[in-house]
Amino acid sequence: MPDVYETDRYVGEYLLFHYGKSEEILPWEYGPAAALDFPVRTVGHFSKGSVERSLDVGCAVGRSSFELGRTSDEVIGIDFSSAFITAAEKIGAGETLSCQRLEEAAEITKVNVSRPTGTNGDGVTFEVGDAMNLRDGLGEFDRVHAANLVCRLPKPRRFLSRLASLVRNGGELVLATPCTWLEEFTQKENWPEGRTLDWLKKELANDFELIEVADEPFLIRETARKFQWTVSMVTKWKRLDP
Ligand SMILES: C[S@@+](CC[C@H](N)C(=O)[O-])C[C@H]1O[C@@H](n2cnc3c(N)ncnc32)[C@H](O)[C@@H]1O
Repeated sequence: MPDVYETDRYVGEYLLFHYGKSEEILPWEYGPAAALDFPVRTVGHFSKGSVERSLDVGCAVGRSSFELGRTSDEVIGIDFSSAFITAAEKIGAGETLSCQRLEEAAEITKVNVSRPTGTNGDGVTFEVGDAMNLRDGLGEFDRVHAANLVCRLPKPRRFLSRLASLVRNGGELVLATPCTWLEEFTQKENWPEGRTLDWLKKELANDFELIEVADEPFLIRETARKFQWTVSMVTKWKRLDP
């Protein structure tokens, strides 16, 4: 598995992506502002109301975990990158982090980021873990969120097959994926055979009912003048009674 997510460059990009102010990410008024605040929007697909437990798999530097924490007593954020989890834990502890922002060539500026307004980090914990081999003892959750994760896993079916045991009966699952299958992350034999949506329906059909399909754009700033603008496919599922 590539370890790009352990590098200072990616830690900086993701801290800015998750916590940066709009003017720090996208200074131009004609830019795709609707693509900002992606982790807030994916969490917004869960039904309204408060719950006991939520799980955020592939949480990166943690923004979606804090958003889940607004309506969950307990949130566990899990990511394979120890650099991302270290940053998430510091943000959760109330630290302000100075993140690197690449301007061009070797020119770097610094941006301060911190926990989102209105969140206090209570009940939100982070741990390093592998989505394809999640530890025993996690228990069951009312909400499971995994954004832009499945097409970064070498064996995504291993993650999907664990979900039924993680989501409580009647609980909800929100998966977001830009369907960008790449051999550097996932060998072709483990890609969906056709469309990702049809594959998800097939893999999850026994345990989940599909209740929503939506599109959510996101924007990752690579340099001052180069951005990734991508549209993630968000699917929302309800755990069926066995
Ligand atoms: C494309 S990023 C998406 C991060 C975040 N959910 C978001 O939407 O901004 C993919 C994330 O999955 C994590 N990841 C990759 N492989 C993983 C694995 N096997 N188990 C857990 N996390 C993994 C990466 O470290 C990274 O944080």
